[in-house]
Amino acid sequence: MSGGDTSESWRDSYTRVRKDPFTEVEATNRARLQRLGVDRLDRGARVLDVGAGDGNLARSLTGLGLTDVVGVEYQPELLALHPDRRRTAAGSATALPFPTASVDAVVVMDVLHHVALVELPDALAEVRRVLRPGGSFFVCEPAQTTTRRVLDAALHSPLHRLTRFSRDKRAMVDAEGQTFVDWLGAEHGFPTAVRSAGFDLELFERKWLHHFGRWRRP
Ligand SMILES: C[S@@+](CC[C@H](N)C(=O)[O-])C[C@H]1O[C@@H](n2cnc3c(N)ncnc32)[C@H](O)[C@@H]1O
Repeated sequence: MSGGDTSESWRDSYTRVRKDPFTEVEATNRARLQRLGVDRLDRGARVLDVGAGDGNLARSLTGLGLTDVVGVEYQPELLALHPDRRRTAAGSATALPFPTASVDAVVVMDVLHHVALVELPDALAEVRRVLRPGGSFFVCEPAQTTTRRVLDAALHSPLHRLTRFSRDKRAMVDAEGQTFVDWLGAEHGFPTAVRSAGFDLELFERKWLHHFGRWRRP
C-alpha cells in the first residue's frame, strides 16, 4: 500500500482476488507471525509495527495476546482506518518517532519493498536505534524465489489474460512500482545488509513468495 498501490486500480484488483479480505488477511498474518516466532514474545512486550497501514497487522498482533502494540505509518488516510488511533504515530520508517531503546520488538511486514534502496540503511539504523539491547527485529518481505520468477513470467505473458483472477494479479504487480522491482533485484543481499546494520541473525528462510527473517539487536 504505497502511494502507488493505493490507487483505485490496485484496490479494485485486490478486492476481487480476496474472497473475504478480513478472514484471508488475518489467516495469512497469523501464519507469518507464527513462522517468525512473534507469538513467543512476552505478552507485555512493547511491539512497534512499522508501516502499520490500516492496522490489520496490529489486529493480528493483539489477537496473539500482545497488549502493547504501537504503529507508525506515513500515509494519513491509512492511519485514519487504524482500529486504535491512540496507539499510532505518523512518521516514516527512516525517522521513527520513538525514543532510543524504547521498544522490545519491531515488526516490518510488506513495507521495506516500498522504501527506496538508498534509504534502506537509514530504515535499518532506525530500527536498531529504537530497539532495546536484546530486542527482536522481525521481517516478512517479498523474496526473489523460483516460484516468484515462474509466476512473474506467466503474469507477463499473454496467459495472464485468460482469467479475471490473473488479470487482477497482473494489475497488482504493475501497480507495485519501481521500488518493488529494485527490491526484488537486491533481495538476496538483504540478510547481509541487516548484519551490516548491527543485528545478529536468528532465522532467515524463503518460502514461496516471501522471506522470513528474525534478528536480535546485540
Ligand atoms: C503493503 S502495506 C503493509 C501494511 C502492513 N504492514 C500489513 O502487513 O498489512 C505497506 C505499508 O507500508 C507503508 N510504508 C511504506 N513506506 C513507508 C515508510 N517509509 N514509512 C512508513 N510507512 C511506510 C505504506 O504506507 C503501507 O501502509
